[in-house]
Amino acid sequence: MVICSAAVQVDAADKPIAESGADLTAVPLFDGEDLPEPLAGAPGSESAKGGFKKAALLYPESGPVLVVGLGDREDFTLERVRVAAALAAKRAAGLEARSLALAVPDEGEAPDVAAALVEGATLASYRFDRFKSKDSDDEEDEDDEPDKRLESLTLLGDSSIAEAAEAARITSEAANEARELQHLPSNVATPTYLAERAEEIAKELDSVSAEVLDRKAMVDKGMGGLEAVSAGTDEEPRLIVLRYEAGGDGETLGLVGKGVTFDSGGISIKPSEGMQEMKMDMSGAAAVLEAVGAIARLEIPINLLAVIPSTENMPSGHAIKPGDIITQLNGKTVEINNTDAEGRLILADALAYSVELGADRIVDLATLTGAVLIGLGSTYAALISNDDDWAERVEASAERTGELAWRLPLHPEYKALTKGTVADLTNAAAKRKAGTIYAGSFLEEFVEDKPWVHLDIAGTAWDVGREYVGKGPTGYGVRLLVDLARSLADK
Ligand code: BES
Ligand code: MN
Ligand code: ZN
Repeated sequence: MVICSAAVQVDAADKPIAESGADLTAVPLFDGEDLPEPLAGAPGSESAKGGFKKAALLYPESGPVLVVGLGDREDFTLERVRVAAALAAKRAAGLEARSLALAVPDEGEAPDVAAALVEGATLASYRFDRFKSKDSDDEEDEDDEPDKRLESLTLLGDSSIAEAAEAARITSEAANEARELQHLPSNVATPTYLAERAEEIAKELDSVSAEVLDRKAMVDKGMGGLEAVSAGTDEEPRLIVLRYEAGGDGETLGLVGKGVTFDSGGISIKPSEGMQEMKMDMSGAAAVLEAVGAIARLEIPINLLAVIPSTENMPSGHAIKPGDIITQLNGKTVEINNTDAEGRLILADALAYSVELGADRIVDLATLTGAVLIGLGSTYAALISNDDDWAERVEASAERTGELAWRLPLHPEYKALTKGTVADLTNAAAKRKAGTIYAGSFLEEFVEDKPWVHLDIAGTAWDVGREYVGKGPTGYGVRLLVDLARSLADK
């Protein structure tokens, strides 16, 4: 099943830099400040600068030390810490170091800073190499990733950071598992595979249970959106439900993730260029699955209900066609004017189902529109909500984790665009107006009056190019959802 890059062991040790014992020790430096005493004057120290993202390798007698710049102390953020830790982890990989020690900067709240160090280093150490054969020729090739892996990460700081560091390890490894699912091609990561992953998480954790609906069961329940989108594929669709109940009689947080394992567009087929990237159209599902796993491993005391609709979107003789009219689980009818606007159809059923099963407030994550890439690029996800307090809560988690989100408005004029001519709704905007908001307005029709946040992650799930995630899958949402769960538990 999913076994991504071998886990890194994390511990905290209250030791001086010179006694870290690691293959490489990284020491942060603020701009304009002096090197710590044992490094001053060491070979290489003349090039050590505190500028953000600057790094210099020093050779004191105790062993190699990488000085990593954090920039001005006044500009200190946890995001800078993640970036600095990622630079250190990448340099450690280049040096084939198996152990890395990171000195905790003396700024900010130590546990939060330690967590950010673990996040940056763990995420930056992720590789997707299970399909590369290992032949001897490759080992000579300098472009190839080194074979020696980081095995241990030691944070040099006092014992107050140990718990936060371990929690960050669990969370970041879950994000890496989500990245593995995102990366897997659609002939491997099928809806059945995602359902098996859910069952695996439920098997690992006593507090989690899984339930999976097949094609017949979803059709029998009246999930017309899932029925329609999966009509064109021979690959079996799945509706996955995960429950985690550790919050007593408190509220239930509903999580919904789009799980289209391949989006060809269907009859409204996409251009062939770049179509291979549409294996990542299940990134919302991956984030929700692995976030549930992480929240349960961390034993955060809340109730979770995750609903993941999963299918391929394919053209065929039995596919839905433009103009077809379907009935969603909540009884609303939809004219399908574009079969490539499939995500909203399966999410509509999943959102309605989550309300039916008892979700009190909801977050959905979906690679829903190309328009979000035009509007916000890969830096911010679009956040759309029917509830200001709930939106602010999710925004706060986005800010804390660096999995950023920017709120876009709802408005009756956008809502009017979603009205059908012969059915209640239509699934695609005429003249492509406000593509991302249109999709959000459509989804709002399926959450009744529950506080709901929609995150359009089409831009942030892939190729963000930040130091700690780089090219390819980012696992966007796992860290945000864990933080959100924590904030609900603290309430
Ligand atoms: N899965 C796509 C959105 C997407 C685009 C994800 C780029 C990741 C990267 C979605 O199903 C889609 O095709 N959306 C259409 C909607 C349109 C037909 C109304 C789009 O955005 O073009
Ligand atoms: Mn599509
Ligand atoms: Zn899609």
